[in-house]
Amino acid sequence: MISNVLIERAKKVLLNNHQKGGFTIPTEKLYPFQWMWDSGFIALGFAHFDIEKAKSEINNLLSAQWDNGFIPHIVFHTKADTYFPGPDFFQSELSKFSSKKFKTSGITQPPVFGFVLEKIYQIVDDKKDFLKFIKTQIDKVYFNHVYFYENRDVNNEGLVYIYHNWESGTDNSPLWDSIWKTMNPPDYKFERKDTNHVDSTQRPTKREYDHYIHLLEIAKKYKYEDKKIAEFSPFLVLDPLFNSILLKSNQSLINLYSIIGGEEKKIEFLENKQSLGLNSLNKKLYDTELGAYVYYDLRNSKKLKGISSSSFSPLFCGAPDERISNQLKKTFNKKFNLEDKYICASFDTLSENFNPKKYWRGPVWLNLNWILFHGFNEYGLVDISKKIKKDSIDLIENEGFYEYFDPTDKNDKNKKRACGSNNFSWTAALYLDFFNRRTKN
Ligand code: SER
Repeated sequence: MISNVLIERAKKVLLNNHQKGGFTIPTEKLYPFQWMWDSGFIALGFAHFDIEKAKSEINNLLSAQWDNGFIPHIVFHTKADTYFPGPDFFQSELSKFSSKKFKTSGITQPPVFGFVLEKIYQIVDDKKDFLKFIKTQIDKVYFNHVYFYENRDVNNEGLVYIYHNWESGTDNSPLWDSIWKTMNPPDYKFERKDTNHVDSTQRPTKREYDHYIHLLEIAKKYKYEDKKIAEFSPFLVLDPLFNSILLKSNQSLINLYSIIGGEEKKIEFLENKQSLGLNSLNKKLYDTELGAYVYYDLRNSKKLKGISSSSFSPLFCGAPDERISNQLKKTFNKKFNLEDKYICASFDTLSENFNPKKYWRGPVWLNLNWILFHGFNEYGLVDISKKIKKDSIDLIENEGFYEYFDPTDKNDKNKKRACGSNNFSWTAALYLDFFNRRTKN
């Protein structure tokens, strides 16, 4: 298909998912509200053709920030009965800090807004106008980072925890399996809605959902109080992807505050966290034996030994030194950069837990491809970054704007690899952005 046609289709996906209130749903029915990290990528897509929609996307999400700086992963702007768990389940009002304006969830997602603001600033022609907008939003993002460091950095090491697998964004990664084994939640009765919209073999299982719901019940019991969650949640994890995104966004905030001027105190705070965090990321989450970054289970004081697409995300925030980046390249080539597979499977393709069609247990996701594209590219590993861009574009051009894709049997042209929901906003948004990205040299 000619790319121009696809570009127009990508715009149409975003415009169709855009709602009257000035925000965009990830996809119809399956995700009928505004999601946090989706919104960041969606804004980046809109920035290529409708900057006002990009601005309202960001403004609408950030205006649901809680009084303590927390940003929820779902903002329930409107009513919809096609999703579970909805606002009545989350009961964000249990927290004294929660938004008084909107009902929201009580968990967060990877903090993308720092780098999204900077990337959009780099794209737009009218920098003066966008800088004016940045000035209205940047303190909310800064306040969110302060929230993380003050509430979720339990060891004062510049790394922040997540307390729910949904906070990671990589919802049902096989890496959580060992944590599920430490829990024994009730067999809850609830009505799943996701499996009404998507093939259930491509979604998490009922038993996995019991664990997800149980973690939320614990957080609700403690009225979403961070200290209590840190004390009692069976899921308390340092996530290399989440922390790399936070660190990348820190750097973007530093860069943007430097352009704005007069914000030395905030820059100093961020720079301190930046050097602490980058150092700890390498010391605590890099695993020499595996040659990759891993998750750290704070509750059970151990690394979660396994390699996923998140294992390479520290390239995105510039953490690896030369020795580590060389090793990452080798590991990536061995497990993810293979003749017969599209890049990048979300889980170790050589593992027995790899499942090419099941959500975050194997399929390719466009947002991770985008992050890894930038990471490898910044390190001058252009053979890989070029391939990531090509595979991303090929998958979309052959299959459509799907939520995720089966990476296996690359040479089989008849294979159906589209998975999850169709007309997925961030796939469309990042297709638009990929087109405008150049690889180094
Ligand atoms: N992504 C999760 C879901 O599938 C929640 O944010 O519902």
